[in-house]
Amino acid sequence: MSNYRDGIAPHGVELINRIATPEQKQEFLDKADFLPVVQLDERAVSDLEMIAIGAFSPLTGFMEQEDYDRVVTDMRLANGLPWSIPITLSVEEAIADSLTEGGLVRLDNPAGKFIGVLQLTQKYHYDKTREAVNVYGTDDAKHPGVQVLYNQGPINLAGPIWLLQRDSHPQFPNYQIDPAQSRQMFKEKGWKTIVGFQTRNPIHRAHEYIQKSAMETVDGLFLHPLVGATKDDDIPADVRMRCYEIILEHYYPKDRVILAINPAAMRYAGPREAIFHAIVRKNYGCTHFIVGRDHAGVGDYYGTYDAQHIFDQFESAELGIVPMKFEHAFYCTRTESMATTKTSPSSPSERVHLSGTKVREMLRRGELPPPEFSRPEVAAELAKAMQAS
Ligand code: ADX
Repeated sequence: MSNYRDGIAPHGVELINRIATPEQKQEFLDKADFLPVVQLDERAVSDLEMIAIGAFSPLTGFMEQEDYDRVVTDMRLANGLPWSIPITLSVEEAIADSLTEGGLVRLDNPAGKFIGVLQLTQKYHYDKTREAVNVYGTDDAKHPGVQVLYNQGPINLAGPIWLLQRDSHPQFPNYQIDPAQSRQMFKEKGWKTIVGFQTRNPIHRAHEYIQKSAMETVDGLFLHPLVGATKDDDIPADVRMRCYEIILEHYYPKDRVILAINPAAMRYAGPREAIFHAIVRKNYGCTHFIVGRDHAGVGDYYGTYDAQHIFDQFESAELGIVPMKFEHAFYCTRTESMATTKTSPSSPSERVHLSGTKVREMLRRGELPPPEFSRPEVAAELAKAMQAS
């Protein structure tokens, strides 16, 4: 495993590439008008893309029933490899009925553009409540991940896919770095140990603290904000990316950080998504992955450190990426520094920490979050974005 040509081995054996070759693309374009069409939603588009670029290696397509069932019940693919989140393409019954197993299906994006092809090997019914309870830990329709699940069609279409072509990201072309490229960049920089960081929120000082604590022991930081679909009240990706540009400019050593977008959709599946996030970053070439408090959580569905404990259910060799676990970080007024209870003697009243909701409320009132919570340049950018919205 460790002698994989470009650093750490991807999940499975090879880095998957399902981007059509020019010849395949031409063949698909010639058939385009004759193929049955399935229109993808935003999340399915990002899943298609993630599979095609190898970020979801070893998946080569949307999951067949055997993989799906084992992922839902055991957090493993049918071959035993750890995998914690179902990657499925769900459609309404009438659409499924019109498709024949064994045939090709044309995949269009929400705007009606032909972007991919599915070789339909299976269509199957699935149990939404079972998926909700096992994957999200709740059947509450108010949970944003469960809500998406309940609103999707009752039949899963499965089989290998091709992405017609790899387009530049419309908003962040400069930060579109696919797994083959990030692996190459790490190699060129001579980085042997790389820590990946997942985030869907604007950067605050606790993020900065845990990133930098990790950076003290590894060669580089792969800063990998998620820019796919998020819930409506999350801060939009363009604002978050500007905050990252600003903070990197002022507060980070340039040659030890790579900022890149993670095109995936957010599931809010807490612990199970932490495993999934780690596996995806392994495919990008990371050797380590940061898991802080309530990783990928929402509301109070998960315990603060559930997303850390779940790693104990796997052998470290089968995951192949090392979780770096951090306690809830805060600004300690007694020591005048960022800390956790592992490093600070503070009492609760000496700890400054704000929830995302609280910060949004402050910004809406026109107040800036304090410098103990957010770097002033980042706070100013957030305030500007809030006023413009
Ligand atoms: S997430 O949904 O992408 O996990 P967020 O962007 O808030 O949300 O978190 C990114 C990472 O930072 C996660 O690993 C999370 O656990 C961690 N994190 C966020 N805030 C803190 C904090 N105050 N202390 C420790 N870890 C934190």
